[in-house]
Amino acid sequence: MEGSKTHSSESMPGDLSEALKEATKEVHEQAESTEFMKNFQRGQVSLQEFKMVLTSLYYIYSALEEEIERNKDHPAYIPVYFPAELHRKTALQEDLEYFYGPLWREEISCPESTQKYVNRLHYVGQHEPELLVAHAYTRYLGDLSGGQVLKKIAQKALHLPNTGEGLEFFTFEGVSNATKFKQLYRSRMNSIEMDPATKKRVLEEAKRAFLLNIQVFDELQKLVSQCHENGHPAQHKPELRTRGTSGAHEHGPAPVKEGEKTLMKHTGMLPSTPLVRWILVVSFLVTTVAVGLFAM
Ligand code: HEM
Repeated sequence: MEGSKTHSSESMPGDLSEALKEATKEVHEQAESTEFMKNFQRGQVSLQEFKMVLTSLYYIYSALEEEIERNKDHPAYIPVYFPAELHRKTALQEDLEYFYGPLWREEISCPESTQKYVNRLHYVGQHEPELLVAHAYTRYLGDLSGGQVLKKIAQKALHLPNTGEGLEFFTFEGVSNATKFKQLYRSRMNSIEMDPATKKRVLEEAKRAFLLNIQVFDELQKLVSQCHENGHPAQHKPELRTRGTSGAHEHGPAPVKEGEKTLMKHTGMLPSTPLVRWILVVSFLVTTVAVGLFAM
């Protein structure tokens, strides 16, 4: 992880980049310490959770990048328009296809908090485009920072191939040096002409963007917990149920068997395993009675 000293002299107090970092310091800490993120950092992430987070990110980046394209010639966005280097939608599509198979679009749906974030992105893009930079900053600079640590954790925890499949989201082909690119991005943000009132609104919007991300993580955590309570443990690895306990489970999930992975790849996020079992039992009983009656 890099430290805050990576900031170079191009950033001076009063610069938008410095102001954004300062204004979002507290919400960044809050985001890092959500239960979902804390578990992720410990390597406690199941395949199902990873698929859920990629799904939310797909909806978020689709909205963000749609609005970026709409505003790519807006003076308040032009300097930070870096589609080849940053845009994530295509990478997320590839990851979703890897995990869900070719019919991935039919397998996913947008959770409520993610939809709220998506709605805000569309609102900003269409009504207050001067605030769009706050959303781009929150996601892209975050992905180029902590995101790189999360990539390694996910790869290890989920036993993903080191060829990068399933992890395209975290791989920025067009960025050879993340630290240098972030410096360039900061200096471009600082070049956007902005009056103090607008700058203040951008800072508020960045805080709002962080809070929207926190709500997304909290909802995902809630969905995962509900899934456990409803007795769908087959989709989770056992260590998910032993979170917070000491011992070997603290060090990360057990390997996912290949067969299990394939099975999970082709099932939805909330499968009806007990229901299917129940239907099979009833069908079996009906068949047995029918055969018995026929034989009489
Ligand atoms: C486990 C969770 C996270 C970890 C470990 C993490 C870690 C980091 C690290 C190490 C940096 C670099 C700090 C620096 O350059 O001085 C960073 C920067 C950043 N992170 Fe995170 N982060 C996490 C979650 C998030 C989330 C959820 C968001 C927003 C959605 C986010 C947004 C950002 C942004 C915008 C920056 C750039 C700050 C700046 O230089 O202005 N991070 N993060």
